[in-house]
Order: sequence, then structure tokens, then C-alpha cells
Amino acid sequence: MSTPAAFPGGAGLFRLAPEVAHLNHGSFGAVPTPVARVHQDLLAEAAADPDAFFLGVPDRLAEARGRVAAHLGTDPEGLAFVTNATEAAGLALDALRLDADDEILVTDHGYGTVVAAAARRARTVTVALDPALCRTRTPCARRCSPDSPPDQGGPPRPHQLAHRPDRRGPRLLAELRERGITTVVDGAHAPGMLAEPLAGRPDFWFGNLHKWAYAPPGSAVLAVAPGHRARVPAPVPSWEDHRGFRARSSTGPPPTTRAGSPPRGPRPDRPARRRGGPRPQRRTRTPRGRVAGRAPGLTPLPYTEGLAMRSLRLPRSLARTQQEAAALREEIAARLGCRVLIWPWPDGGGIRISGQVYNRAEEYERLVAGLRRLLAEG
Ligand SMILES: Cc1ncc(COP(=O)(O)O)c(C=O)c1O
Repeated sequence: MSTPAAFPGGAGLFRLAPEVAHLNHGSFGAVPTPVARVHQDLLAEAAADPDAFFLGVPDRLAEARGRVAAHLGTDPEGLAFVTNATEAAGLALDALRLDADDEILVTDHGYGTVVAAAARRARTVTVALDPALCRTRTPCARRCSPDSPPDQGGPPRPHQLAHRPDRRGPRLLAELRERGITTVVDGAHAPGMLAEPLAGRPDFWFGNLHKWAYAPPGSAVLAVAPGHRARVPAPVPSWEDHRGFRARSSTGPPPTTRAGSPPRGPRPDRPARRRGGPRPQRRTRTPRGRVAGRAPGLTPLPYTEGLAMRSLRLPRSLARTQQEAAALREEIAARLGCRVLIWPWPDGGGIRISGQVYNRAEEYERLVAGLRRLLAEG
């Protein structure tokens, strides 16, 4: 049987409504109750004595940064807490000080808002890594920018590359480094999912803590290699400017999540593996391609064994626009009681299914049976 088994006690760690199959941890995450309790305690502390609390925030942030950096296997001096991956992408791309001749290579793994952030700043060229993702798009490269039509303009001057890491990531990063190309890695899902999220030493790397690392919403990190740190601006001017890009405004977004929740949370998925250490045991639920692939009209996309998300292409007629994708997502939620991600593409979008320790076999089965009915309706 290919449906993942239940993780004992997993659902009890969360406050998710039992009538909804939450198969979309990858979008917004879900906060385990012990983490939520710490979060509430910090908010209460801030309410009780704002002066004492906020004056202590910089030191607590520095301490939390040290623990998070150790967990990710990186240098705390190059790590900044940010609100989300998209904010980190903007900070990284701004630090590159791109000019009119620059070109950003993005892969077809690129996430919409991150690719859009790149396209706002320079011409982008999309490089296909997975032939399975291509239907009508040019298989090798597609160039576009808000100002110039595709495949026009002068000779490319490849400068950066933004991509999501997979098993080919470290090798690709090494090759790009040899060619003098600055690399920006979107590791939105890497913390808590990959044993070595920063493998391959990218120049810029960012990841969310509020997805697979179980932190409350608004918790993400940007890691910058030593040679680039001086060029990254602080997100806002603050009394903490001497901390450079690692500074936050003193009363900015609730510092509670940044002041220590991530590393204190429970680790029902797995511990990070240090280089040379024992292989961690993956205990998040893995929604196997075979399960969802059983619905006709869905094409499973390539995946890495042991990761907790699977993506499948939908039939060509579905989710061609953002509006269609949102409508399908809501129809699946209303009729099947399942929350999943639907992404749009002009030649037929896709569905992404996440598995977590709180998911039950019955939920995957319900989704498959429901999708089969929906797709048969056309
Ligand atoms: C690969 C990837 N990058 C970036 C993002 C954007 O993350 P955020 O909403 O934290 O900006 C997501 C969101 O799901 C994502 O999957």
C-alpha cells in the first residue's frame, strides 16, 4: 500500500480542525501547540512591560540567531531574521546592484513571487531543469522582462541564478561559482526538510522557518556569504543599524517569533544532520506520487524520495490562470474538504500536496477519490 501510515500523536500536537484535510503545510505551515504557547507567553511579556521587553529584544534576537544558525549549519554573523522568503529575495536581489546589462537566470522550479522579484530588477532567462515541467514552453531557455518581449535584446550576460535546491543543487552551485556567477537560492522549504539546507555554499540563501521548522508565521531567514554582507542593506533604518543587515526596527513586526520560538519548538519531523553525523530519520508523512497519481489526468512530476511534498501536473484545461487556479482550489476545499495548493500555468497548472505528522491515510485517500470524481466531471 502506498499511502503513508499515521504518525502516532501527530495530530494532537496541532489545533487543526479535524473536518478539513490540511494537505498544504507547504504554503502557510501550521504551528504546534507547544510553540504557540511560547509565542503567547512572549506576547504576554511584551504587553506586561513593553520597555523591558523591547529593550531586551536585540540581545534575544542575537541569541536566537545563534541557535538557528547552528541548526542550519551556517554562520550567525551572516544570518538575518526576515518576515518571509519574498522579503529575503528582495533584499538579496537589491544587494546585487544590477544594471541594464545584467541578466538573471532562473530555473523552471522558480516560485512565482521570487521570479517576479527578479524580473522587476533585470532581464530573466528561465532555464528548464525538468523536462517533465515543459509542455509547450521552449525546453532550454525562455527570456523575458517586463520591458522587452521574449527572446530579444543583446547577448546575454548571465549574472545570477535563483533556484530551489534539490539533489543537483550543490553541484550546480559549485559549477556556477567556478564561472564567477553569483548565486541566490530560494530554500523556502529547506529548513526542517533538508538535513543540510545550505549545502553548496550559495552566495545568498533564504528559507522559511514557518513552514517545516514549525515557527509561527512571519519567521524566515536570509543567509549571506561573507563577501556580500556589506552590500545588503538593513530592511529599515533603526537604532540597531550597527548590526548591519541583521538589524530589525525595535518595535517592528512582533519579535516573538524571532526571539526564540523556532529552535525551541518540538521536532516531530527530524533533527538536522550535521556533516558526518548519523542519517536522520524522516518522520514527516510523505505523500507519494503513486497515491495522487492514481487520479486520471494527473501527471506526477519528478520528486526526491523522503521529502514531504509532491507535485503533479493537472490536465491542460485546468488552472490556466490565477483565477482558475483559485477557483479549483476553493472547489476542492468546499467539495472534498481538502486544502491543497493549486498553481496556474497557461498550458495547465499543477497541484501540490504536502504531508505532515498530523495527516492521516484517510485524508490522502479522500483527496484521491474526490479528485477522480472532479476530473471525470471535466
Ligand atoms: C519555493 C517557494 N519560494 C518562496 C515562497 C514564498 O514564501 P513566502 O510566502 O514566505 O514569501 C514559497 C511559498 O510557498 C515557495 O514555495
